[in-house]
Amino acid sequence: MLTVEPLFKRVAIIGLGLIGGSLAKAVRLNGLAGTVVGTDKREEELSLGIELGVIDQAAASLAEAVSGSDLVVLAVPVRATREVLEAVKPHLSADAVLTDVGSTKTSFVNDVRAVFGGVSPRVIPGHPIAGSEKSGIRAANPELFASHKVILTPGDDVDAGDLARLKSLWEGCGATVLTMSVAYHDEVLAATSHLPHLIAFSLVDTLAGEDENLDIFRYAAGGFRDFTRIAASDPVMWHDIFLSNRDAVLRGIDHFTHDLDQLRTAIANQDSATLLRVFSRAKAAREHFSKMLSGQAYVTNNSQKQVTFRLQPGGSMTGDIRVPGDKSISHRSIMLGALADGVTEVKGFLEGEDSLATLQAFRDMGVTIEGPDDGFVRIHGVGLNGLQPPRGPLYLGNSGTAMRLFSGLLAAQSFDSELTGDSSLAKRPMGRIADPLRAMGAVIDTAEGGRPPLKIRGAQPLTGIHYEMPVASAQVKSCLLLAGLYAEGVTSVTEPAPTRDHTERMLAGFGYHVHRDSATASVSGGGKLTSTAIDVPADISSAAFFLVAASIAPGSELTLRHVGMNPTRVGVINILRMMGANIDVLDEREIGGEPVADLKVRSAQLQGIDIPEDQVPLAIDEFPVLFIAAVCAQGTTVLRGAEELRVKESDRIQVMADGLAELGVETTVTPDGIIIEGGQTIVGGKVNSHGDHRIAMAFAVASLRAAGDIEVTDCANVATSFPGFVALARQTGILISAEGGE
Ligand code: S3P
Repeated sequence: MLTVEPLFKRVAIIGLGLIGGSLAKAVRLNGLAGTVVGTDKREEELSLGIELGVIDQAAASLAEAVSGSDLVVLAVPVRATREVLEAVKPHLSADAVLTDVGSTKTSFVNDVRAVFGGVSPRVIPGHPIAGSEKSGIRAANPELFASHKVILTPGDDVDAGDLARLKSLWEGCGATVLTMSVAYHDEVLAATSHLPHLIAFSLVDTLAGEDENLDIFRYAAGGFRDFTRIAASDPVMWHDIFLSNRDAVLRGIDHFTHDLDQLRTAIANQDSATLLRVFSRAKAAREHFSKMLSGQAYVTNNSQKQVTFRLQPGGSMTGDIRVPGDKSISHRSIMLGALADGVTEVKGFLEGEDSLATLQAFRDMGVTIEGPDDGFVRIHGVGLNGLQPPRGPLYLGNSGTAMRLFSGLLAAQSFDSELTGDSSLAKRPMGRIADPLRAMGAVIDTAEGGRPPLKIRGAQPLTGIHYEMPVASAQVKSCLLLAGLYAEGVTSVTEPAPTRDHTERMLAGFGYHVHRDSATASVSGGGKLTSTAIDVPADISSAAFFLVAASIAPGSELTLRHVGMNPTRVGVINILRMMGANIDVLDEREIGGEPVADLKVRSAQLQGIDIPEDQVPLAIDEFPVLFIAAVCAQGTTVLRGAEELRVKESDRIQVMADGLAELGVETTVTPDGIIIEGGQTIVGGKVNSHGDHRIAMAFAVASLRAAGDIEVTDCANVATSFPGFVALARQTGILISAEGGE
């Protein structure tokens, strides 16, 4: 028989209340210690400990419990700690680990210091974030810590082996263990636990003192009951906690009373903007609690979410659909709306994670934004100089566009800021914006190789420059034009090939003059933006998947409504038509400064082509799915001059070539493009999208012409640009299902 060494030979639990008793029982049941010894001043609890099977041995004294134990756990009330430590000290072996389960950690460490004259590396304070309305050993529950967090606050000199064993002990009880410093623990707990308890006690007490208290309690609505549930907690315990975590709690109270006072003033002055700002920011934070707590703003950390697309071969595409709003325009609508004077209303906003990251970042900088509600957003602009410093780094998820455009406008603010993102964004080049911004006077630090995070120093005066972009990038152009709004003089950018001009069009829509001279766009600093209404067209980059799908799947006829047809974005239509696609452009119109149209697409036999290089920037995001079109075409398709594809959300040339190879399609990769022989059979198989939304969707489209099943892994990021993709793809004819969410 295989026997596993227990983590500790003898564990002494001092204090057999709810927490001590539950820990003892969990350690016993899970075989985490050789022997579990318990002691308690209350004789009854001690004998119950044996009777209820909570402990192996009952020690009649502290000395007996501690002697010979290699782990000693204090589970006594906070106020009794010092006295108990005095009694423990003479019997503690030199190699024993000492820990506790109290709610405040500074006081525990101070008590240890007072009793032992210092804090040995073997002292590892702990705090399980778990409890129950019941107390005492009868309530001991070995499941109490399952799926709960335990915080350990070791010193810098902790023995790694001791820490690992204590961590394993808690994990063996089902808990998730976090480590942090003592001071940070107390600060965080003061804010998230102690302050809410104080407010609940205080509110119930205030109302209980009112004359009409009976009525108030009789009619107490669910809100009051929910809000004050924690006022039923143990008064003595909380008395001890507030006094032992005094400084951090006082800071929390001061912060809260200041903010409460601001709300009072706002109500008194009928200041709707402040009320809406605070409430909508709080609502967003409440709805996305866990992510906020892990410091990630409120967008999903998709790298932790595993979504797999499963596709059956075949199908044809039919229907009449509208894909979600344009991502580039959605980002810009929030940015310019926030910096404008007045209220901007946006229709058709893309509720994808990238543009939501932008929205949240502006909320973090004090802008009131209502919605999004079915694509409708109302932004209460604060003017070009009205942003407030964010409380922490701005987390931009997967979005390169957000990071590059933010850099331009944050470089000019009076406050410092930091921009971070997910693991894909952390690999993307930011030197291309940091260098020209520095030439304007900005102070920006990047991580190695010009990668995120970006640290931007505030209060730097900017001066306009003329910049000849080495790469055709709308993000770089837009970043510099946004910085140019704040710069002294003229900022002008020349592009080597036309790139999307949404920033220029939208600036004009907000009443800010942008001068255009062939390939050069320029702005003069010092103007202002005036709020406007924005109608975001459907994203041609999302429509592209359906344009290719309906072209390659026999028997298809599909209508796509209200698609953005900006000439700097229509490369995908130009290229598909050159390949012989059957796409009708209907009802062309202009809405809010952007051309839109309905598109009708029918199946067609595509032909391979040499893609003209001037089309590359106009179709830069659509190549993954254009490669699928090329596989289904007759003859060879050659792409050149597209090295930019290698620095998108993934290296889109290599990742597509690898995925196609998995499906049985051979291609030739070149440094700046790819050569694809059409007419090969897409056998089917398993493809890794490398977290790139457009690659995941491109392979979903490939299934329409595959001979076997296709599985695409790592698809969670589809939500960055195309929420609802799976449902819309299924509705129109792709035989798709998603595992692990959409
Ligand atoms: C975008 C510009 C393009 C594009 C991206 C969105 C924008 O990037 O690929 O998806 O909104 O400005 P580059 O400017 O890096 O080409």
